[in-house]
Amino acid sequence: PRFIALIPAAGTGSRMNNELPKQYLSLAGKPMIYHALHTLCHSSHIFRVFVILAPDDHEWNRYDWSSFADKLVVKYCGGATRADSVLNGLKAMQQTDGSIVKDDWILVHDAARPCLTIFQLDQLIDALALDEVGGLLAIPVADTLKRADLNQRVMGTESRNGLWQAQTPQMFRLGLLMDALSKVNSAAITDDASAIEALGLDPRLVLSDAYNFKVTYPQDLALAELILQKKET
Ligand code: C5P
Repeated sequence: PRFIALIPAAGTGSRMNNELPKQYLSLAGKPMIYHALHTLCHSSHIFRVFVILAPDDHEWNRYDWSSFADKLVVKYCGGATRADSVLNGLKAMQQTDGSIVKDDWILVHDAARPCLTIFQLDQLIDALALDEVGGLLAIPVADTLKRADLNQRVMGTESRNGLWQAQTPQMFRLGLLMDALSKVNSAAITDDASAIEALGLDPRLVLSDAYNFKVTYPQDLALAELILQKKET
């Protein structure tokens, strides 16, 4: 089986308070999605990288993507939710390239995790290439977790024992992932592993690190730039 990356990038990034969707915000002189694409396209494991855009995306073509031309395929088939965008992307993938089969591994990665490294990617692939189910990069929760009411009054302290933060890439076989995503309520899930779990399967967590964090709020941009600078040196 081969390893194929899929980046759903059809979101609007409403939490960023910005007109421009998050994947295009400027980060170290490039649109944010450039950085994850760079890592995925430069991995010798990855056969192809599909980017899934909103049907009405007018931003993508304003940039030069020619340095990724040997692996990059762009599809304007994003859906209403992230899960819909991924499912539409998987269908488009099969239509585009008949050689892609149900046994191939799909690595779904968020454009909003620009600091992914080749090392983390290799760790994921090495850990899961022979796995029955697949899995995802993740890190153990470090902070103490409080449950609060609507007035921000603490209702209790949750044990963080055994709790992990899910990251991406999340790696599952094409056939299984399509089956899982087509059965699930796509508005109710925020990652691909949840859809696999809903089938009664147990994805495996592969230890990552905090550098592969999700850029969500405006102040995250400066942090991501620092990490990217470190990566280059
Ligand atoms: O909003 P959030 O940060 O959870 O989005 C995660 C990823 O899913 C982003 O890369 C975003 O562009 C993508 N997405 C999508 N289609 C949607 C919603 C989000 O491809 N309808």
